[in-house]
Amino acid sequence: MASIAIDGPAGAGKSTIAKCVAKELGFIYVDTGAMYRSMALYFLRNQIPAGDEEKISEACRDITVSLAYENGEQQVLLNGENVNAFIRTEEVSRMTSDTSKYPKVREKLLSLQRDLAKEKDVIMDGRDIGTCVLPDADLKIYLTASSKERARRRYLEQRERGIACELDQIEKDIIARDEQDMNRAVAPLRQAEDAVLVDASDMTIREVVEKFISLYREVQRTKTGSNRS
Ligand code: DC
Repeated sequence: MASIAIDGPAGAGKSTIAKCVAKELGFIYVDTGAMYRSMALYFLRNQIPAGDEEKISEACRDITVSLAYENGEQQVLLNGENVNAFIRTEEVSRMTSDTSKYPKVREKLLSLQRDLAKEKDVIMDGRDIGTCVLPDADLKIYLTASSKERARRRYLEQRERGIACELDQIEKDIIARDEQDMNRAVAPLRQAEDAVLVDASDMTIREVVEKFISLYREVQRTKTGSNRS
């Protein structure tokens, strides 16, 4: 099976790009952030404080996360309930960054993510895909953009959804979450040694998609070449 791993900070455009690339290559897009978000939603709904690692770890036993695809769109099921509509709020974003640092939370999702990549050609995005989940991915990309640009995109996205927000506050939240995701002990966000760095600050979506496709075609050519020799 073929796999593409995409990591990078919040708001770099990973999911938008990965969805387009998946469509063009006929791969399944796997949004691992959505899985962590669904677990955070469970902790919020059950009023388990983010700082209580013991309670969070215990609660992991009561959670089952699974994925389904509707018209090609990934749906996350939390104990059988489709929670896609509830996992994109700022409150859930914060809770996700606060709780995805715990080993028990990560353990819960790791095998599910690896199993998906065994069954299908996948393009998977997150924070630790190239470094931890799929260390043997055919192509690894670290996608980033300046915090200003990432905040601006998130701001426009939230406004489009009709959610009131402040640009400055969004940038502060993004920086705080990245700090936390990069500095945690388990599976921190970092560029894998063999990942290609793509800075999308001054690139259009189409340009980034084409860059990804051409990187993947290059990998395929190298593979075919080395299989022949
Ligand atoms: O990509 P996202 O914004 O939906 O991710 C939400 C949070 O989940 C982010 O703060 C970090 C965490 N996450 C993670 O720890 N590991 C992943 N593979 C994906 C997301």
